[in-house]
Amino acid sequence: MELLPLFESLESTGLGLMVRESVWLFPVIEAVHLLGLSLLGGAVLLVDLRLLNRGLVGTPVQALATHTRPWLIAAVVVMFLTGVPLFLSEAVKCYYSPSFWVKMLTLPIALGFTFFVRQRVAESETTPRGIAAMTGATSIALWVIVAAAGRWIGFS
Ligand code: HEM
Repeated sequence: MELLPLFESLESTGLGLMVRESVWLFPVIEAVHLLGLSLLGGAVLLVDLRLLNRGLVGTPVQALATHTRPWLIAAVVVMFLTGVPLFLSEAVKCYYSPSFWVKMLTLPIALGFTFFVRQRVAESETTPRGIAAMTGATSIALWVIVAAAGRWIGFS
């Protein structure tokens, strides 16, 4: 199925046009997108580093996972609420950007891994150290790919 016409019509939506035609809307929304990224990075790294036996080693990983979860969810909501208008304003550029497709493919994998696999590993008291470390490292790698691909869209 040819997706280009869909992306062209997405770019012509009211929200897309409004962001593209404004001088300041794109940078302001992108700045909030980045603030969301810093919140996401903090919430992700606290648990992932703990799984790697680094960082807050005095705090049980279960407690860290529980306390960071609402912040993680808030960060993901901010990323979507700001990412969608950014995307709508430049949907055709995104269509032609390999980085955009890498990001859109890796994002659901990172979300699924974080909320289903890593959450279970972090909550279990019987996870072997090696599995915990591999889970933390995989989570960091997935989120680095999502963020790097997001940054790379700007170079397209
Ligand atoms: C939690 C998930 C996300 C992460 C970690 C993420 C990360 C990033 C990063 C690091 C940038 C570069 C910002 C800059 O250069 O100043 C970016 C830009 C962008 N993101 Fe996201 N993002 C996420 C979700 C989304 C979603 C859901 C969408 C929309 C469907 C989206 C669409 C965009 C667009 C269109 C840009 C602008 C690229 C440009 O500079 O032209 N992002 N994102």
